[in-house]
Amino acid sequence: MTRIITYGTFDTFHWGHMSMLQRAREMGDWLAVGLSTDEFNKIKGKHSHFSYERRMEILRGVKYVDLIFPETSWEQKRADIIKYNIDIFVIGDDWRGKFDDLSDLCRIIYLPRSADISSTLIKNSLQK
Ligand code: CTP
Repeated sequence: MTRIITYGTFDTFHWGHMSMLQRAREMGDWLAVGLSTDEFNKIKGKHSHFSYERRMEILRGVKYVDLIFPETSWEQKRADIIKYNIDIFVIGDDWRGKFDDLSDLCRIIYLPRSADISSTLIKNSLQK
């Protein structure tokens, strides 16, 4: 069984998120998502439109997602990869190179982002 992990905020859930989760899940048999908490978003300088609980409810309904757990710090990834016995770490190529230090634990794959869509774009449109 090939086990995959990814991370993100997944605010104002959109098809770029869905495509990322689908492609990640198709690389293996099981997908865990580290979902950024509202507190961790503050550390990242982000403010999500939807709360952690709501973002989690939406992710729970996505058929490609097998497990959701809270992402509360930058440093937790090594422990998560070991805990969940992960084979492949997948994330969008906006993060290219940023997580290469984890490559002693598992494969690292940066997937191309979907064009012309982001949570930021949706939030900016809602404010207009
Ligand atoms: N993602 C993607 N294509 C997009 C937007 C996001 O593949 N158009 C991917 C990201 O690369 C990441 C995951 O979806 O692996 C979660 O991204 P997140 O940062 O939560 O969403 P964004 O829409 O990029 O949010 P923001 O505008 O706040 O950066």
